[in-house]
Amino acid sequence: MRSEGHKIVVLTAYDHTFATLLDEAGVDVLLVGDSVATVVQGEDTTVPVTLDEMVYHSKLVARAARRALVVADLPFLSYQISEEEALRNAGRLMKEARVEAVKLEGGAPVADCVRRLTDAGIPVMGHLGLTPQSIHAFGGYAVRGRAEEGERLIEDARRLVEAGIFALVLEKIPADLAARVTAEIPVPTIGIGAGPHCSGQVLVSYDMLGLFERFRPRFVRRYAELGDTIREAARRFGDDVRAGAFPSREESYDLDAPSGTG
Ligand code: KIV
Repeated sequence: MRSEGHKIVVLTAYDHTFATLLDEAGVDVLLVGDSVATVVQGEDTTVPVTLDEMVYHSKLVARAARRALVVADLPFLSYQISEEEALRNAGRLMKEARVEAVKLEGGAPVADCVRRLTDAGIPVMGHLGLTPQSIHAFGGYAVRGRAEEGERLIEDARRLVEAGIFALVLEKIPADLAARVTAEIPVPTIGIGAGPHCSGQVLVSYDMLGLFERFRPRFVRRYAELGDTIREAARRFGDDVRAGAFPSREESYDLDAPSGTG
């Protein structure tokens, strides 16, 4: 897609119903992000989510995908301890959950791990810039890649490409740095808060749908306000139940009515 000039569309998904809808909408890549920790599980960061939980959510998404590529995040400390453990854990996501690729965070320090996975036939997506699993080391969600950190990020991107990544997420870095990385490496870059020059864009689906309201970075564009829609629907249901207006006769079953499947 990159070489043909088509922008790559990526959204996160965590369950079968959402994944079905996003796949039907023509999303190219469904990312089972470890953001499941914050937007689904109610955690403050992505650090606590476990491999078992990622396998579970990935299985739900992979079962739904007809067209999209399914990529799952390797969670914090599932790939940093040893290359063997990384291989075993990525293998679980491929064999048990049936995802087609994994994503992991970091640059040069994880390059050998990426090489081990790609040598075993596991496609790996990299992730540089604001890598949320390192949030306690960063001390906050500020933009990354300014000054010499930007030069290091370009070197990290090269190391990941040498190790075999097929794509690279760039999160919350200046747009001109993302443009440089995109020009300097041969694999697609997928931006989130990284400006318009990447090969594709990713957003957390709960953010772009207006479902997750606790925190809204400026790079999130809301394409729906499902939070409002859900509250309003629940309120109307409550009103109807309290007023005795639900269910109606048509929504109930009579002894003498023909039985159907609905
Ligand atoms: O976990 C996630 O949702 C991600 C995206 C923000 C890229 O890694």
